Amino acid sequence: MVDILDASNSVSRLSLLGDGEEQDFKWKKPLELFAERKFVRICAPMVRYSKLPFRLLTRKYGVDLAYTPMIVSNSFLCSLKARDSDFTTCNVDRPLIVQFAASNTEDFVRASQIVVPYADGVDLNCGCPQRWAQAEGYGACLLRKPEIVQDMIRQTKGAISSQDFTISIKIRIHHNIRETVEFCRKMEHAGLSWLAVHGRTPEQRGEPVNNEAIQLIKSSVNIPVIANGDVKSLEGAKKIHTETKANGIMAARGILSNPSMFAGYQSTPEECVKDWIYLALSTGTSFQCFHHHLTFMLQKAMSRAEQTVFASLASTSSVLQFLKENFGISAPRIPVKS
Ligand SMILES: Cc1cc2nc3c(=O)[nH]c(=O)nc-3n(C[C@H](O)[C@H](O)[C@H](O)COP(=O)(O)O)c2cc1C
Repeated sequence: MVDILDASNSVSRLSLLGDGEEQDFKWKKPLELFAERKFVRICAPMVRYSKLPFRLLTRKYGVDLAYTPMIVSNSFLCSLKARDSDFTTCNVDRPLIVQFAASNTEDFVRASQIVVPYADGVDLNCGCPQRWAQAEGYGACLLRKPEIVQDMIRQTKGAISSQDFTISIKIRIHHNIRETVEFCRKMEHAGLSWLAVHGRTPEQRGEPVNNEAIQLIKSSVNIPVIANGDVKSLEGAKKIHTETKANGIMAARGILSNPSMFAGYQSTPEECVKDWIYLALSTGTSFQCFHHHLTFMLQKAMSRAEQTVFASLASTSSVLQFLKENFGISAPRIPVKS
């Protein structure tokens, strides 16, 4: 099990902290962060994107707490190949929350037990609105099944002895916000550590985020609440914190286009692009993932014509050449693994 999950041998030396320092790497547990910080800065779970190299990048630029992409617990349990490709971490990738999609207690408990040594908490996705996910009993359909979610929380808590290992959920809101408040209170009573709220219903897409609903949830429970939805800058995060009093602010699309947003940058600086190249290439990131992230980061800086050319690039060397010619960005030296 260990060698499947533990990527630290191969990537720990590539830590952004520099050679040697990772030996003494210390991190704050999520509940300590919530107790200490005005608001905790959080990189959201993102399928395909919130993987190890991107998490390390955002951590360098102000993120306090990062989530893995949603991992389907059943595949994670049944297939070693899925486990290997879905979950990679290293010893400086902390504090880390592993997010699972689960439709039943047994899968959630067993998948959670596997990641305990490598993470600081597990999260149950109760917000994914996609039809395939809800048809499998995952994501937002769990908002209508509070008893199942309560059972998952209770059983997982009972199965994990580590006291500071957290069990959280990420939700969307109901049409009737009173139902969401009731749902959250039930989960709190079942032993939930904290929850993240994307302030839209499962049916909503581009509609404004309901920050009033998040504020109401925050004032109705006694566990930390994270606000999520349309946060694109540090200023935006501060504004939502003021409006909602949330203990944490989580960003997804905003941090994809500017991984340095929580450090106060208005757009992705050159240094951050170079850090991404270094981290992605050092950790053996797929070309598609490497390229997609650069597309997100540089989109605003590229003209339409440049975007079209960039989208057509099909190799790492052509991407690096494009960056040099169009942005004057030279690729950092990538250390050769011994
Ligand atoms: C590419 C992408 C992948 C996502 N994957 C996940 C996921 O794995 N789990 C999850 O709970 N939400 C996922 N989401 C939703 C985000 O975490 C977040 O709730 C949503 O995008 C709203 O936040 P934003 O306005 O900051 O983007 C994803 C969103 C995007 C854009």
